[in-house]
Amino acid sequence: MSPISIRTLQNMKEQQEKFTVLTAYDATFAQLAADAGVEVLLVGDSLGNVLQGHDSTLPVTVADMAYHTASVARGNRRAARPALIMTDLPFMSYGTVEQGLESARAVMQAGAQMVKLEGDDWLVPLVEALSRQGVPVCAHLGLTPQSVNKFGGYRVQGRDEAAADAMVEHSRALADAGADILLLECVPNALAERITQAVNVPVIGIGAGAATDAQVLVMHDMLGLNTGRTPKFVKNFMADGRNVQQAFAAYVEEVKAGTFPGEEHGFAS
Ligand code: KIV
Ligand code: NA
Repeated sequence: MSPISIRTLQNMKEQQEKFTVLTAYDATFAQLAADAGVEVLLVGDSLGNVLQGHDSTLPVTVADMAYHTASVARGNRRAARPALIMTDLPFMSYGTVEQGLESARAVMQAGAQMVKLEGDDWLVPLVEALSRQGVPVCAHLGLTPQSVNKFGGYRVQGRDEAAADAMVEHSRALADAGADILLLECVPNALAERITQAVNVPVIGIGAGAATDAQVLVMHDMLGLNTGRTPKFVKNFMADGRNVQQAFAAYVEEVKAGTFPGEEHGFAS
């Protein structure tokens, strides 16, 4: 089968078929996830937490992201149907358009096929510039962990009406600027549904309810390898005596069927 591309994902949104995103940081897990049917491998800067042991994603560098992207790309190439590889641009590596282009160059040359940026409508000029250079972009809105210090903690975003309306507007502006995918983290279910309907690009959710076009989880979380507090949106797919391959397959199956996330994984308001 041909590798997953942004066209595949766009078609899936149009057919109202859900797709699955999972973080990957190395070759072995990348290949296993792609072989289980995961459509997008996210080389997330969550590697700062789960691999490097930091308390936030802030210490992660572009070189770290390129290193893990290259490993993921090597494993993904061996999968029966390679997934699309999306890589986070880390903290303070895209504060200006010039810097964003340079950071994107590094991870794209390491094997990424799309970059993910955290922000709202301030990202518009960078999204336009990346699109012109042929770099697909995912814009990450809502709880953007690189801004944890500004938020004063990891908390649900877009809860009041003004903030919700602003997030809808920012989502539209980013899609209009050329963002190919949006990702919403920790926003009320109803707001995620509103944004998913407001834009015609695919929307990935985490802690955003079941109405988005796709779901993402951090691999360690869904394998039950959480060492700290388990976020509400996490489900342990290793329960019921599954092995890793079966856990990945169960995640894919539940996202496709719409049975994950359940009510208990989202934020009603
Ligand atoms: O870095 C990451 O793993 C992410 C997901 C949680 C969306 O950005
Ligand atoms: Na991230």
